[in-house]
Amino acid sequence: MSIDKFRVIAVDGPAASGKSSVSRALAQKLGYVYVNTGAMYRAVTWLALEKGVDLSDAAAVERLLEDSRLEAGIEEGQSCFRVDGVDPAEALVSPEVNSGVSKIATLSCVRTRLVEMQRQYGLRCDSVMEGRDIGSVVFPETPAKFYVDASVEVRAARRLGQGLNDPVALRDAMDSARKSSPLTVPAGAWVIDSSDMNVAEVVTEMLRLLQPLGILPLSE
Ligand code: DC
Repeated sequence: MSIDKFRVIAVDGPAASGKSSVSRALAQKLGYVYVNTGAMYRAVTWLALEKGVDLSDAAAVERLLEDSRLEAGIEEGQSCFRVDGVDPAEALVSPEVNSGVSKIATLSCVRTRLVEMQRQYGLRCDSVMEGRDIGSVVFPETPAKFYVDASVEVRAARRLGQGLNDPVALRDAMDSARKSSPLTVPAGAWVIDSSDMNVAEVVTEMLRLLQPLGILPLSE
């Protein structure tokens, strides 16, 4: 894997810390491709639920992955991820997927397959990639790593404000306690607490930190 040609900006953090909104906005400012790796874990969860596979049965999930087509690509400058030809779209944030995804994310067969696909982006384009293990496991060698945090109260309120039923504290506990690539602050990451910041303020801070690496916004 090489990051000489393409840059990867890793954005990790707990559920509802605001990392999706800031990653999308940062990618737009830089002209980079935004990659949401949580959506990949969610899409696999959705597929398993659709097929009636027990999310805790590693062997059954592994068989499901063998029998399914997973495709990660770039279309019109945007990353896309399909399972058996389908982008589950709004179903990715259904209550069933919200409560099942942390189980799927503990399975090493799932992680190995998705990490491989995430690394392919590093060979194809400059990207802002968000998740839980991007700076620690997927692209540990990138010098551009952020960990975006916010208090649990602020995070729960953000999800409620989006009209979503999402057990953020429970997901954090599972994501942090799992053996395989747990949520952690990657070595060398810049930590930003976004509890009292809006998206634009976080992006401004990120751009300030990225400037010495020669990562600059597109001229407006
Ligand atoms: O970012 P999100 O809330 O959409 O992520 C959904 C779940 O996927 C999250 O609870 C943990 C898992 N995940 C992961 O384990 N590793 C990633 N790189 C991204 C997400």
